[in-house]
Amino acid sequence: MKIGVIGTGYVGLVSGTCLAELGNDVICLDINKEKIEKLKKGISTIFEPGLSEMIKKNIKNGRLRFTTSITDLKDTLIDFIAVGTPSREDGSADLSYVLQAAKDLANVMSSYKIIVDKSTVPVGTADKVREEVKKTLKARNLNIEFDIVSNPEFLAEGRAVENFMKPDRIAVGTDSEKAKKIMGKLYSAETLNNAPIIFTDIKSAEVSKYASNVMLATRISVVNSIAGVCERVGADIKDVSRIMGSDQRIGPKFLYAGIGFGGSCFKKDLDAWITTSKEQGCDASIFEAANSLNEKQKVSIAHKIKKHFKDVKGKTFGVWGLAFKPQTDDMREAPSIRLIQHLVQEGAKVKVFDPEATENAKKIFGDTVHYCDDKYEALKESHALVLATEWYDFRQPDFKKVKKLLKEPVIFDGRNIYHKDTMIEEGFHYYGVGRIPITPITQKDKK
Ligand SMILES: NC(=O)c1ccc[n+]([C@@H]2O[C@H](COP(=O)([O-])OP(=O)(O)OC[C@H]3O[C@@H](n4cnc5c(N)ncnc54)[C@H](O)[C@@H]3O)[C@@H](O)[C@H]2O)c1
Repeated sequence: MKIGVIGTGYVGLVSGTCLAELGNDVICLDINKEKIEKLKKGISTIFEPGLSEMIKKNIKNGRLRFTTSITDLKDTLIDFIAVGTPSREDGSADLSYVLQAAKDLANVMSSYKIIVDKSTVPVGTADKVREEVKKTLKARNLNIEFDIVSNPEFLAEGRAVENFMKPDRIAVGTDSEKAKKIMGKLYSAETLNNAPIIFTDIKSAEVSKYASNVMLATRISVVNSIAGVCERVGADIKDVSRIMGSDQRIGPKFLYAGIGFGGSCFKKDLDAWITTSKEQGCDASIFEAANSLNEKQKVSIAHKIKKHFKDVKGKTFGVWGLAFKPQTDDMREAPSIRLIQHLVQEGAKVKVFDPEATENAKKIFGDTVHYCDDKYEALKESHALVLATEWYDFRQPDFKKVKKLLKEPVIFDGRNIYHKDTMIEEGFHYYGVGRIPITPITQKDKK
């Protein structure tokens, strides 16, 4: 099928590339010329496992093209709108990019099109997109048939290619039999590993994306809130989560306590959903609490650092991990930002290492931190190791080396990845999230 994708960010680039990989003829458009120039050369503009190779392969076989010119999309059959929907100051979603993309398409379309909202958009947006297209076609004195479909994206960064190819489900909201048939062919069982397609009305599809994200974000805040109590009463959230997660009604995923959720979506989507709930006269307090608890959680480890060292002024901290989660270079809303800014403001020196996110981090921290090329380099002359992102590379470090490099044997583990027995054996002061702190046993204690 001939497919257009508008917006080549995390969602558009992954979706467009995967659709080309599946055999479609895909053209991806972005208004960012620099991005498109890089992509034309086969250079991925984001880090996502498996993506770079797939881009190169599909450019080579002619199924994937990149452009800044909307006229290249004039006769595509399905066009995915995958542009950003950032938060406005009042928390509502800014739809200007989505509506602009719809208008641009209507300005060039020459035959029947399915215009698909893939961006995360509030309920009722499809109606606005339809109106925009109608208005623009009318101004062109044209009466071309088109359909609007809501097909929210559920991919998780770091596993985006895998999620696209083997999705848990695909939601397609439409009021047109013609569009349903074509979308059904695009996402046929043979193509996408028998993934269930759930056809529904447009509004239900629009709501389903926010419903999923606010559920996940709130679940994390619930666990972090329980972790706070664990820490005070001397319980361990890791064991508590395992016991909770073994209940089939609860399940084990998204039950990890830590320094809070980040990423471009959870906070933005919580804010937008709170706006929608209030507009509809519904109580949104559960989601407001999830949001405010998360903001506090981001600095919780900084408070532990300050409590341990009394004064962090003049001290140096080695931070492992900057991206909002492993396997991505995305720094949007990363908990490491507030944590590091807090330490810097208090007069501490911060040395950082991340396997993929350093370039994006430089745009945020500038020269306020020292960037390292190696995880151990970040520990030289540092008073403690602070773990902010649980990359695989950090899971089993050489603890003898860590101890030797650090000025003091202290670890603040923002993701609870280190085993308490190892921390005791290796003789570290250890602070996790929702866990009992560990103090090294000295020779004097042993006697
Ligand atoms: N990032 C995720 O993990 C994820 C997952 C599911 C859904 N979403 C949703 O998908 C949407 C896109 O998210 P993202 O993370 O890919 O955003 P992004 O900011 O990475 O990319 C958006 C791209 O759209 C381009 N753009 C903006 N206006 C344009 C226009 N008129 N024409 C062409 N290009 C235009 C921008 O230049 C940018 O490259 C958002 O609504 C987001 O909430 C994101």
